[in-house]
Amino acid sequence: KDESTVSITVVGASGDLAKKKIFPALFALYYEDFLPKHFTIYGYARSKMTDEELRNMVSKTLTCRIDKRENCGEKMEEFLKRCFYHSGQYDSLKNFAELGKKLCQHEAGRIANRLFYLSIPPNIFIDAVRCASSSASSTSGWTRVIVEKPFGRDSESSAALTRGLKQYLKEEQIFRIDHYLGKELVENLSVLRFSNLIFEPLWSRQYIRNVQLIFSEDFGTEGRGGYFDHYGIIRDIMQNHLLQILALFAMETPISLDAEDIRNEKVKVLRSMRPLKLSDVIIGQYKSHTRGGVTYPGYTDDKTVPKDSLTPTFAAAALFIDNARWDGVPFLMKAGKALHTRRAEIRVQFRHVPGNLYNRNFGTDLDQATNELVIRVQPDEAIYLKINNKVPGLGMRLDRSNLNLHYAARYSKEIPDAYERLLLDAIEGERRLFIRSDELDAAWALFTPLLKELEKKKVHPEYYPYGSRGPIGAHYLAARYNVRWGDLGLDQ
Ligand code: BG6
Repeated sequence: KDESTVSITVVGASGDLAKKKIFPALFALYYEDFLPKHFTIYGYARSKMTDEELRNMVSKTLTCRIDKRENCGEKMEEFLKRCFYHSGQYDSLKNFAELGKKLCQHEAGRIANRLFYLSIPPNIFIDAVRCASSSASSTSGWTRVIVEKPFGRDSESSAALTRGLKQYLKEEQIFRIDHYLGKELVENLSVLRFSNLIFEPLWSRQYIRNVQLIFSEDFGTEGRGGYFDHYGIIRDIMQNHLLQILALFAMETPISLDAEDIRNEKVKVLRSMRPLKLSDVIIGQYKSHTRGGVTYPGYTDDKTVPKDSLTPTFAAAALFIDNARWDGVPFLMKAGKALHTRRAEIRVQFRHVPGNLYNRNFGTDLDQATNELVIRVQPDEAIYLKINNKVPGLGMRLDRSNLNLHYAARYSKEIPDAYERLLLDAIEGERRLFIRSDELDAAWALFTPLLKELEKKKVHPEYYPYGSRGPIGAHYLAARYNVRWGDLGLDQ
């Protein structure tokens, strides 16, 4: 192993994602001794910068986790010494060849493995891949490329992007990131289900009344309006992050934990989904709101967003999986920006207890009596199960209490960022948490007709105030399926 080396090139090194996520994740991996003994990190971007300037920029983004202060400064220095910079155009074979030469020098005759992280806008993906693969790929080891969404904006553009990438790369060289798959509780979904006897037998239409996948942010598109307006919340969150969670949640037991086996099962779920009807979707857009003397901007107040934009910043949808396990069970998705809270969670609402002896304890509100399993992906990771319990004391009164696995209380370890896990997997060639091209096609096939219809009919979003709970339409949509959003009640 000592004879091989890994060079990681962050293409688009001065961008937001590189600074906020990629370099800090690489440092965290280095700190934990997860990076191979011989590694080099290169930043690649158009602006002129020296190695020192890059190190300076990167150093500002690195932090030491609270539980790891020891030697942190020293480790940072060591890490930064392994970071270099090369300035070049994204479509220049010559500039990439220069980079290739520099990589060669660092590799010093060892088996050279090269990882390129494309942290650049999608319109230059193909150019960069063409140049990297023709002039800077490894001749002795592997060459892999990590790409970030957006992977197109509909089935056709996504297929064109895949075709473009595959001109220069094999499928096994392409690592499509959906960073939600790197989140601790999303990875834990399969563990929860397949390694506990008590969940899997309940995991079907027989016991589950509905499943809710909820994403909310308490800030708007601040600074990203230009990007966002071209995509909207359905493409930004639902088609990827929430749909990936749904597929993992609903898939059949895979043959093994092998990447291909898991992804085969996910594709089956995606391809079993009923086409999405416009009437099963509601969209919203946030408007300006003043609270406590502070005025929060509306979506179209962003200068990079057209004043008459109909782009949704909120959406709710009812989806169905037409297979034996999930027939008739609504999977309700809700995603929005500029809402009252930041949260991502999965809620599983179970059916009523048949012939419940304790019915009268709940009066007419039977909804209150059903069990609900909540997997809180973020913040403050937790898994809790709402159960009915006797209030201690004489007499018989029931209440709803939580069996609660609160990560901060149970595990003293800080949870790694999703990018750490995903970068490590890409270095190790583990593809389980990356999106295969047929998965991507199936995800687009589900959403593309709806997206086109929304655009063609110019469906107007329902406006909701910045910082609110979102459009009322989401409640009507849920109510149509006899469902109440679980995140609106009092939980703990
Ligand atoms: C990104 C979206 O994929 O995920 C952003 O493009 C969103 O709009 C972000 O803010 C949320 O990620 P996280 O990890 O902060 O929940």
